[in-house]
Amino acid sequence: MFETLSKAPGDKILALMGEYAADPRTDKIDLGVGVYKDETGTTPIMSAVRKAEERILEAGTTKTYLGIAGNKGFGAAVLDLALGDAVERSRVRIAQAPGGTGSLWVLMQLINRARPGATVWVSDPTWPNHNPIAENAGLTVKKYPYFDTQTRGVKFDAMLATLDGLGPQDIVLLHGCCHNPTGANLSNEQWDAVAASLARTGALPFIDLAYLGFGDGLAEDAYGTRKVLAAVPEALVAFSGSKNFGLYRERIGAAILVARDAAHADIANSQLLNIIRGAYSQPPDHGAEIIRTILEDAQLRAEWETELNEMRARMIRLREKLADAIRQKSNSEDFDFIARHRGMFSLLGLDNATVEHVKAARGVYMIGDSRINVAGIPEDRVGDLADALLAGTK
Ligand SMILES: Cc1ncc(COP(=O)(O)O)c(C=O)c1O
Repeated sequence: MFETLSKAPGDKILALMGEYAADPRTDKIDLGVGVYKDETGTTPIMSAVRKAEERILEAGTTKTYLGIAGNKGFGAAVLDLALGDAVERSRVRIAQAPGGTGSLWVLMQLINRARPGATVWVSDPTWPNHNPIAENAGLTVKKYPYFDTQTRGVKFDAMLATLDGLGPQDIVLLHGCCHNPTGANLSNEQWDAVAASLARTGALPFIDLAYLGFGDGLAEDAYGTRKVLAAVPEALVAFSGSKNFGLYRERIGAAILVARDAAHADIANSQLLNIIRGAYSQPPDHGAEIIRTILEDAQLRAEWETELNEMRARMIRLREKLADAIRQKSNSEDFDFIARHRGMFSLLGLDNATVEHVKAARGVYMIGDSRINVAGIPEDRVGDLADALLAGTK
């Protein structure tokens, strides 16, 4: 059978990780892979997570099946965390899923059941996995303008003009905060305008919320999601607990649907559960139980929020230091956008030849589209990094 297959393209980020690992230079810098790293270059287990795991280990009495929608306490806590009181809960359903990716997957399948072959509009550019997930579900992907390569901000007028031209059959995939790969995000006023546009056109918002708390704060980062959900009758949200709880390998996320009323929510939810049952039957529990334990316990929650705040503050500090160093060395404000961006990434706007040159000549690894992971910036070598980037762009 396998002779009928040809080789699928490899994952570019994993290939870059392999290249980095094989590079013998001791002063190499890894700005590639998209995981948070602390000052020692490790992706730590948060102390609130460790404590929650100890409690779970002690209190656990069974590993029996959980049910298709997963851990109920987790679901309720995630809704409070992400949605606040933006939507009446009778219109909302949530199903725990394996990561933000699994959540996107089941929700794309749900879209295709409701509207076979529908068009999902994604930002230009977007996280590269959005396209295959949508296309594998049978959907069509189109792009709306997003990143302005001149200002490295959002091309908001062009984005809004495209959204204004959509109709009730369209789906609009929005990054709830901390846009990946660009780091350029909508202001609250721009979110207000997007919410009003969606309410006017009837296009269905689908929010990918993978970095809640990594931008400006938990409530600040939820602004856009809440604003949009409060403005429209129907919406979808894919939540990930990979980054903000540091639970990458536990594969924990949630698929959320908002319907016009409770009766429609029940029907849509029955289809969502049917999709899950036919895919992986039930989600894994460990990550969900960790998040439930943390969010339901005032002390653990406070500890988690403190750690999350520290991670966020570190990323903002690294952004500011790199932008400062480049400004001082080049006497120009061309890279100040790095300090204005939020989340784990910034798209530098360099061409692929420059990215390759900076890697070969200076050992600085970033994704081919010039996306950097700011958590990988070595705080004690910001000057070296600034030199490498400036030399590459000359
Ligand atoms: C924009 C975006 N969405 C979703 C995800 C999914 O994350 P995970 O499946 O690891 O929870 C990621 C992870 O990199 C992401 O960047």
